[in-house]
Amino acid sequence: MEVIIRPDPTAATQLAAALIADQVRTKPSSVLGLATGATMERLYAELVRQHKEEGLDFSLVRTFNLDEYVGLSPEDPHSYRHYMNAQLFNHINIDIRNTHLPHGQAEDLKLECRRYEALMQACGGVDLQLLGIGRSGHIGFNEPLSALQSRTRDKALTPTTIEQNEGYFPTPADMPRCGITMGVGTILEARDIVMLVTGSSKAAVIAKAVEGPITSMISASALQMHPHCRTIVDEAAATDLTQQEYYHWIFENEDEWRAYR
Ligand code: GLP
Repeated sequence: MEVIIRPDPTAATQLAAALIADQVRTKPSSVLGLATGATMERLYAELVRQHKEEGLDFSLVRTFNLDEYVGLSPEDPHSYRHYMNAQLFNHINIDIRNTHLPHGQAEDLKLECRRYEALMQACGGVDLQLLGIGRSGHIGFNEPLSALQSRTRDKALTPTTIEQNEGYFPTPADMPRCGITMGVGTILEARDIVMLVTGSSKAAVIAKAVEGPITSMISASALQMHPHCRTIVDEAAATDLTQQEYYHWIFENEDEWRAYR
């Protein structure tokens, strides 16, 4: 894993967006794995800006989102489908038929999970997976004790995650208690991973994920096994990392990052 520290949320977000934009320019028919959450709103705004002002072309891109709430229809304003349309898809030239999320209202959830995995395979797998991290250490909705080889499945949400996300719903009771999520094993099959983490509320959990032991208690720690995972954090999220000096050196000196300095 590489960890890159940028001075503030804007710089961290711009770097993550630049990595995604470069992926799309290099391979216009890229399969992108996408994430939701407040952190990603700024990133999608930057991709929309690059589309509108710089002609970043999404016409051949295909996308698979990490997760969706069980029980919500795509039209529900609290669904991740609604979030994705509102934050990104409605503002770029992507073919909406090439954008995929699990169906939260599928009658047979197990079948829906198998369908989603099969569709990902049929599209050739994910080229670049974008990730955030939840306060429980989750990636997607892979809550503590998620098997590190897990596949797409329905997963009960922890009180920590419910507390983190219930503010988006009219009342806490309206928040679904389960999600469908790509598994940790599914996520690890992406050819490239970019994780974006900003803000002091994530400092403790990102330090555990990046520098702590690999454990199903923090599903993001499984990313330490991925051969090409880049974690972009801002200074506030980096506070608890012990190797900050080294991470700064990498960004300032490694050739790979020259174009982004
Ligand atoms: C949700 C999503 C995660 C995301 C997390 C972080 O729980 N399922 O994929 O990483 O939110 O959200 P935020 O950026 O709002 O902290």
